[in-house]
Amino acid sequence: MKALVARSYGPVENLTLADVPKPTPGPGHVLVRTEASALNAIDLALITGAVKDHLPIQHPFVPGVDVTGVVEAVGEGVSRFSVGDRILAWNGVPSGGLAEYTLVQGAPSAALRPATLSPAESAGLPTAALTAAALIDEATPRADEKVLVVGASGGVGSFVVQLAKRTGAKVLATARADEEDLLRRLGADATVNYQTSDVTAEALRWAPGGVDVVIDLTHAGPALAGAAAAARPGGRLASPLMGPSAFDRGVTAVYTGTRTPAGRLEVLAAQAAEGHLHVEIGARYSFTDAPRALADYAHKHLYGKVVITF
Ligand SMILES: NC(=O)c1ccc[n+]([C@@H]2O[C@H](COP(=O)([O-])OP(=O)(O)OC[C@H]3O[C@@H](n4cnc5c(N)ncnc54)[C@H](OP(=O)(O)O)[C@@H]3O)[C@@H](O)[C@H]2O)c1
Repeated sequence: MKALVARSYGPVENLTLADVPKPTPGPGHVLVRTEASALNAIDLALITGAVKDHLPIQHPFVPGVDVTGVVEAVGEGVSRFSVGDRILAWNGVPSGGLAEYTLVQGAPSAALRPATLSPAESAGLPTAALTAAALIDEATPRADEKVLVVGASGGVGSFVVQLAKRTGAKVLATARADEEDLLRRLGADATVNYQTSDVTAEALRWAPGGVDVVIDLTHAGPALAGAAAAARPGGRLASPLMGPSAFDRGVTAVYTGTRTPAGRLEVLAAQAAEGHLHVEIGARYSFTDAPRALADYAHKHLYGKVVITF
C-alpha cells in the first residue's frame, strides 16, 4: 500500500509517498481503509524528533494520529466494530493515518462514524475536539464568566471557542483580521487581532479587572505569564502545553492534553453530525498531495483543521 513515510528524524520535507506492507490487525486492533486523515502539531513533533526523548518512534514511520475510514478487518477480541463499519479514531503515537490502510488501536479512542458526518469532518474531529473538551473540563468556565482563548483560530481553538460558548460564558478569541468573521460564527462574542494588538491589554479592556478564564493554546512555560496577566485575581488558566502551576495574583493553571474518556468521541461526533459542533476545515489536500500538505502545515498560516482525503 502507499503511505507517507519518514525514514529518519528530520524536516518534514524529507517525507515521501512510498510502498510499505499493508498492516495486519493483531488482538484488539482494527484495520481501516483510510478515507481521510488530519494533521496535528504532534505529527510534526514526532517527525522532526522534537519529542523523541519521551515519545520515540520506529522508522520507517507513517504519521497521522487522526483517521477515519471503513473497517476492512478486525483483530482477535474486537467486538465493538465489524467489517464494513465506518469509524473515526484518535490513534495516538502509533499514528499511521497517512496511508491507504491504517491500524487503529481500538476503544475508547475509536467510534462509529455518524452517517451524516463527512470523512473530512470526521478526520478533523478527534485530536482537536478531544483536547478542547479536556481543556474545558479543567478550566470549567461557567455561565456569565468571561473567557479569553489564545490561539482560537487553530484546530483545538476552533473547538474550544464553541465548547466554551456552550457553557454560557462570554468568549474573547484571538484572530487575524481575515478570521474575525469565522471566530464570531463559531460563537466568539469579541475578537482581538494578535498580530496588531496587545492581546492582554485588549482583554483587560474587554473585561475590566480581568477575565475569569484564559485558555492559551500557543504559549508554554514562562511565556504563559502574558496571557495569565489578562486573568482576574484568583482566575484560572488552562493549556495543552506545559508551564507553571500558578501565576501572580493567585491565578492558578492546569495543563492537560488529548483525553479519551469512554463515550466522548461518540458524543462529539454525534454533536458534529447534528450540527451542534462545527468542524472548521481550513485546507484540504488529496493523499497524492500529502507531502505538500505537511510542508504547508509546518510553514504556512492555516486556520482550523488541515485534512487529507483519499
Ligand atoms: N498536549 C496534548 O495532548 C495536545 C493535543 C493537541 C494539541 N496540543 C498543542 O496545542 C497547541 C494548539 O494545537 P492546534 O492543533 O490547535 O494547533 P494549530 O492548528 O497549529 O493552531 C494554532 C493557532 O494559533 C495561532 N497562533 C500562533 N501564535 C499565536 C499567538 N501568539 N496568538 C494567537 N494565536 C496564535 C496559529 O496561527 P499562526 O499561523 O499565526 O501561527 C494557529 O492558528 C499546539 O501547540 C499543540 O502542540 C497539545
